[in-house]
Amino acid sequence: MNVTIVGTGYVGLVTGACLADLGHHVFCLDADEAKVAMLNDGRMPIYEPGLDELVARNRDEGRLSFSTDVKASVAFGDLQIIAVGTPPRADGSADLRFVHAAAKAIGRHMDRFKVVVQKSTVPVGTAEQVSRIVRAELHARAKDLDFSVVSNPEFLKEGAAIDDFMNPDRIVLGVDDDLPGRRALGLMRQLYGPFNCNQERTRVMDVRSAELTKYAANAMLATRISFMNELANLADRLGADIELVRQGIGSDPRIGYSFLQAGAGYGGSCFPKDVDALCRTALERGQRLSVLEAVQSVNQRQKLVLLQKVLGHFGDDLAGREFAVYGLAFKPGTDDMREAPSRAIIAGLLRAGARVAAHDPVAQESAARALAQDLADEPELLQRLRYVERPAEALVGADALLLVTEWKQYRVLNPSQLKRAMRTPVVFDGRNLWDPDQLAAAGVTYLGVGRSN
Ligand code: UGA
Repeated sequence: MNVTIVGTGYVGLVTGACLADLGHHVFCLDADEAKVAMLNDGRMPIYEPGLDELVARNRDEGRLSFSTDVKASVAFGDLQIIAVGTPPRADGSADLRFVHAAAKAIGRHMDRFKVVVQKSTVPVGTAEQVSRIVRAELHARAKDLDFSVVSNPEFLKEGAAIDDFMNPDRIVLGVDDDLPGRRALGLMRQLYGPFNCNQERTRVMDVRSAELTKYAANAMLATRISFMNELANLADRLGADIELVRQGIGSDPRIGYSFLQAGAGYGGSCFPKDVDALCRTALERGQRLSVLEAVQSVNQRQKLVLLQKVLGHFGDDLAGREFAVYGLAFKPGTDDMREAPSRAIIAGLLRAGARVAAHDPVAQESAARALAQDLADEPELLQRLRYVERPAEALVGADALLLVTEWKQYRVLNPSQLKRAMRTPVVFDGRNLWDPDQLAAAGVTYLGVGRSN
């Protein structure tokens, strides 16, 4: 099939590359000339494991192209997949300017039946707006062409996006129950056909339910995390171990193990933004989502739990102390620093007078940009922050090690190296990655999240 992807951000690029790999012909449109040039040159604007090879292979084999040519992009795809950014505005609501512009361009240039696929995460009701915009453009051109807007939310996790796309649990399709809608559904089934060979994974529903499904999924996952974080804090007070509690409840198939990991709080562009957006949508309809409001405020507090543990251990004044921080990205497998807990933790350490030596395998540059922005009014603090090339360098002379993001390479901790290199061998394990007993036996002071120490 011929598919156009509007927007080569994270979702657009992964979707385009994966669809091309399935054998479709994919035309990726982006307004940013520099980005298109970069992609045509084989360079990636984002870090996502495996994406560079996937893009290169499909581009070389002629199934994937990048362009800034709007007219050509509308002409190309029977399916026009909108995957543009929907950044939060100052008041927290989604800025739909790019979605609207994409709809306008499609309406202005289309010359045959098109399926407009809404993939960016957008508030419930946006597909109807897209439909109105396309129709108005057609009307202005006095064209009487059929089209249908389909909601097809993505469920990709950063760092595992290709695998998530290629092995979907479900494909949600929100379609209108009319003639163009049924025609659109046929084309969508064709697009995702390869995923339904052994098992039907498509969930067909009305457009609004599909839009809400996306928010409901992220809100549910965020709720599980905040619930466990709150219980972890209670476990600390009660002398219980949240890791044992997690195993104890996760083994109940009605509960399951996923997304029950307590720690330094959730970050990223999706959970914080989507939970906020859902609360806002509900308020606009006169309903408060009390559970989700609490989920967000528990998470804001949780981002500071590790810092509070440090202050509890060393006292409020950290002047003259040095801390090693492992892991800066909001989670492993990405260089994304949006809402990363490391930002609040490092800023707090610096404000309390500490020096910080930070390490991340891929996010150091984006971390430096994010922290410079966070501390723009206190630039002198940044002089006490340095980034190191190898994790071991951060340990030299450190009073404590803080683990914020559980990259694989941090899994094995060598207690004798810690004791040799650090001023005091203390670890604050913000992801409950390490074995407290093993470290304690080796003479390392261990403080986790919800492990009663
Ligand atoms: C999330 C969803 O998992 C995807 O299904 C969805 O498509 C995506 O948002 C989106 O809306 O685009 P993502 O934000 O990439 O994906 O990352 P996750 O792996 O879900 O992790 C989110 C945050 O939760 C991370 O900060 C992670 O450290 C934290 N987390 C996750 C926990 O604190 N505990 C857990 O048990 C799991």
